[in-house]
Amino acid sequence: MKDLLRTEHLSREDVEILLGTASEFARNPLSKNTFLQNKTVAIYMTKPSTRTRLASESAVAHLGGHPIFLRGDDLQLGRGETIEDTGKIMSGFCDAIIIRTFKQADVDQLGLFSTVPVINGLTDQDHPTQLLADWVTIRENFGEDLTGRKFVYFGDGNNISHAWLIMGAIMGAHVVTATPAGKWAPDPKIVETARAIAAKSGATIEILHDPKVAATAASVLYTDVWISMGDSESDRDEKFSELAPFQINQELMDRAAPDAIFMHCLPAHRGEEVSVEIMDGPRSVIWRQALHRRTTIQALLYHLIKGDLKGN
Ligand code: CP
Ligand code: NVA
Repeated sequence: MKDLLRTEHLSREDVEILLGTASEFARNPLSKNTFLQNKTVAIYMTKPSTRTRLASESAVAHLGGHPIFLRGDDLQLGRGETIEDTGKIMSGFCDAIIIRTFKQADVDQLGLFSTVPVINGLTDQDHPTQLLADWVTIRENFGEDLTGRKFVYFGDGNNISHAWLIMGAIMGAHVVTATPAGKWAPDPKIVETARAIAAKSGATIEILHDPKVAATAASVLYTDVWISMGDSESDRDEKFSELAPFQINQELMDRAAPDAIFMHCLPAHRGEEVSVEIMDGPRSVIWRQALHRRTTIQALLYHLIKGDLKGN
């Protein structure tokens, strides 16, 4: 496996390798601090980022390398140079590329035309590096035995909801999305992919539209913003009123398992997708989850560049 372009490309074995190394990098961030000595990693983003950028630049630095951050309009790509030519040039100067942009197809193309590893740092469709961080955090809280545990995503059927279903399927977990039915539900094609993976892994996929049913006995209550980067604001009022019952608050948390945790990829909008009391309360693991953005990107760079991952 050369790249991480889509969550669905990871095998269970790959994820286990990455989670193990990420835990090691959490304990000892500098244990491989000459791995990228005299090497560079390009980080190209056409959307804003707090965590993914900081995590990526820190990860490269901890491996002894030099990150080169490029904003969308820094490159000739914005002036009509092709992704193919850009990928070839970047591969000549860098040992890996991390890209955050709108279209999944652009990331897939960059992977195709680059000879160095390309990592998807978020598209409209997917966010694989986030889900790696989420699963290190889930393991830290619940260990490896998933028996009887239900992991629920609430809110907008967006990129995170997609990655949530796919990664849960890979891990053989009982994963749920609780979203309104219709235009704010997860993409049916992604649900189909998750179900196909689940058929092999033994995972259970549930696509629900009742937040109370979804929250009952859940071990993880996860949410994300209701308006994602690049989303239209034109139907904001309609969307927010349909999503209101999916806010993670004390009422939903009271239905969850006694040891349930609250997760959020961040950035958060308190009072919208999550109440203040839950976001900043004792069940919230959001800061640890955010820290693991660095440990997992560091693990990904390490194993992709070494060529340790097999894909599926
Ligand atoms: N969770 C996440 O990807 O955050 P940023 O958008 O700040 O990178
Ligand atoms: N769904 C959000 C995730 C941000 C990390 C977005 O795409 O804006």
